[in-house]
Amino acid sequence: MALALKDATPAAPETIYLKDYTPFPFTVESVHLTFRLEPRATRVISRIAFAPKGHGATLELHGEELDLKWARIDGQEVTPDVTDKGLSVAAPDQPFIWEAEVEISPETNTALEGLYMSNGMYCTQCEAEGFRKITFYPDRPDVMSVFTVRIESDLPVLLSNGNKGEVAAGFAEWHDPWPKPAYLFALVAGELVNHPDRFTTASGRDVELNIWVRDGDLHKCGFGMEALKASMRWDEEVYGREYDLDIFNIVAVDDFNMGAMENKGLNIFNSSCVLASPDTSTDANYERIEAIIAHEYFHNWTGNRITCRDWFQLCLKEGLTVFRDAQFTSDMRSAAVKRIDDAMELRGRQFPEDNGPLSHPVRPESFQEINNFYTATVYEKGAEVIAMLKRLVGDAAYYKALELYFTRHDGQACTIEDWIAVFEESTGRDLSQFKLWYSQSGTPRLSVAETFAEGTYTLTFTQETKPTPGQDKKDPKVIPIAVGLLSPNGDEVVPTTLLEMTEATQSFTFEGLGAKPVPSILRDFSAPVILERDVSPAENAFLLAHDTDPFARWDAGRSLMRDVLMSMARGESTEDGPLIEGIVTVLTDRSLDPSFRVQVMSLPGESELAAALFEAGHTPDPDAIHGACETLRQRLAERMQDELPRLYAENQVSGPFSPDAKSAGKREMANAALGLTTRLDGGALAARQFADADNMTLQIAALSRLVQIGKGEAQLAAFYEQWQDDRLVIDKWFGLQVGMAAPERAVDVARALTAHKDFTMTNPNRFRATLGTFGGHHAGFHRADGSGYHFLADWLIQLDAKNPQTTARMCTLFQTWRRYDATRQGEARAALERIAGTSGLSRDTNEMVTRILGD
Ligand code: TRP
Ligand code: ZN
Repeated sequence: MALALKDATPAAPETIYLKDYTPFPFTVESVHLTFRLEPRATRVISRIAFAPKGHGATLELHGEELDLKWARIDGQEVTPDVTDKGLSVAAPDQPFIWEAEVEISPETNTALEGLYMSNGMYCTQCEAEGFRKITFYPDRPDVMSVFTVRIESDLPVLLSNGNKGEVAAGFAEWHDPWPKPAYLFALVAGELVNHPDRFTTASGRDVELNIWVRDGDLHKCGFGMEALKASMRWDEEVYGREYDLDIFNIVAVDDFNMGAMENKGLNIFNSSCVLASPDTSTDANYERIEAIIAHEYFHNWTGNRITCRDWFQLCLKEGLTVFRDAQFTSDMRSAAVKRIDDAMELRGRQFPEDNGPLSHPVRPESFQEINNFYTATVYEKGAEVIAMLKRLVGDAAYYKALELYFTRHDGQACTIEDWIAVFEESTGRDLSQFKLWYSQSGTPRLSVAETFAEGTYTLTFTQETKPTPGQDKKDPKVIPIAVGLLSPNGDEVVPTTLLEMTEATQSFTFEGLGAKPVPSILRDFSAPVILERDVSPAENAFLLAHDTDPFARWDAGRSLMRDVLMSMARGESTEDGPLIEGIVTVLTDRSLDPSFRVQVMSLPGESELAAALFEAGHTPDPDAIHGACETLRQRLAERMQDELPRLYAENQVSGPFSPDAKSAGKREMANAALGLTTRLDGGALAARQFADADNMTLQIAALSRLVQIGKGEAQLAAFYEQWQDDRLVIDKWFGLQVGMAAPERAVDVARALTAHKDFTMTNPNRFRATLGTFGGHHAGFHRADGSGYHFLADWLIQLDAKNPQTTARMCTLFQTWRRYDATRQGEARAALERIAGTSGLSRDTNEMVTRILGD
């Protein structure tokens, strides 16, 4: 009894620092693991060969939530010191064998980290630090070893990493010849069926491919398999990288914290990121699935063969792999559209992070919980840093440096310094200033001044990065600025030129011009910066009409639109004529890719507009922003009234469904035309499209439009009836109702859905579809009375007890709370403080809420 009363306050959370890195004092020669699977009493028997690097080191192993049954060193029973973090034991001065048996309970593991169960199937998630919940081990990425695994179970399919060993009734053995860190370990066991295929590598190695799913999902594997083979071929052709095992398995799992995981030879996917069929998946789903399959496959070289020394180096594998998957998508689909999508993603998710309380460098220097650093900054800005490097050194030098990286560092656990050194050596460039992109947080703002005299045009750029948490002073960075110049009649007089800015303020001149040109700046989004340039509506409209660079052309329309919406949201009288005419011109220009045309007419997110207003010194009013967007869409619809039927008709796709970029682009355009039409016809066309739809892209778009105008009651019920047995479609049904709810109804709609019999907290997809969509509903979440904040906080508090990782990620929905008025701030603070004050709060959520609250 006395024990229970002792010390109720949890210890202050520990902070880990990059500067404290020390190598592990042992090498691991081999790892043998035996799993005896039982839902609540799985036994894991480990046999690990250690060799000390020096003398007198104590063996310290990570281990959490493990019930240690026995441990031996060289066959002798030992009694280690066990804490809730791991164990320590005196170790011999020569190579020795560590053996241990632990018991774990996969069935009660709701954190979805370590070994857990999802619908009767066993699976693992070890990145970043989940392996320590499976057995005692040096669970750090710089400890690499060769694993042999034996799985004992009556389940029919038993999988692990590497190549197949002996398989018989009741057990299977796997051997992975490639040394790997524990975070790449994986095990799957269940009643699964496979979609098989084969691939022959460039050098003639025959590889068995499988996608493993539950029985009813077999018809949803074909597209993923094609994407896998396309990725394998692409990595051979573009990077000269071949696959290196006899078999490559992908498994679809329903309960998963993230998108997918690149475990060596056994990728595990959130089922939403691999399963696709025309009836159940949208074009956007197809594109995302293709990209994620490629991403995980590409990790085989950038992540697995060459891994990270420590978790501070996460961008070494993630930034590079995101960059590679973006290259792949650009090659498979439209490069221009992909670039615009990435810029929108960066502005929508990474800029708020970089300029708010969670700001951190691409390579962070400290953390409490590494799971909280799988961020847009590490992934997406990390990829932009590589894109800039490639721009600066040029394509040939980039691929030469990559070749050196792969040969020099194969089999190693590396740092950003290793990566930079490869580029410095192969190009002869000094990259010390460039490296600031890895260490300085915050988004640089680039302002521009121009002069023109006697044929000479001068652009003067000034860069500034505002202070971010823990970093008051910023040095000038290397910024590649792609610029082109247009003559006043719309001809391009200077084609795309890369300016390399290195100073705080720097001028670039162009000679021999007949007239003052119109500059097109930051073409192809050549750097992840905020361009602060006062451009007149006339000049933006000119660029929207004439720019030869598709990104810059789109961006000119975007900034024109942003300016219009900002003044509308502030209640100013607004001249939207040039904007609307500019959009109409592009929308009806049949020489342009339909998907590009849709991007030109799409509005910036309401949250992005709130950020822009805040930056400009105003307090954003979410309802006014929402109203401005609705009004602009209405005006566009009215102006387009006569064109819409033709736009809709000419973008119908006939024949069997194909998810290729061209067909998808047409459906996107047809759905955009439907969206505008619904504002004029009371939903008649949408109701017809819903009734006739033979694919999910058309069905869900029609349903969304109906629900958005407050109709679609019958269709919602019919949709549920039709799809109630398909979890992934029902996720869409949950998300759509929240996302399309009117601002003043969003809390009630979301609350009612959390009471639906199909709502569950234990499935992250369902939780995100409901509460994540709610947090992303700008005007619904930011209700003036704070009801949105408190509603979300209540659910996050509940979820934290079960699944800290997903809870902590979802806390980021609060990261912009200081943009809003005092009343909203007060409510948001109260909600955050309620989360922070929850007893037994996880380390994950505690770190996030503390950072978001700030000082
Ligand atoms: N490494 C994975 C990827 O980028 C993502 C990942 C990190 C992950 N931690 C995870 C996936 C936890 C699932 C659960 O593809
Ligand atoms: Zn990744």
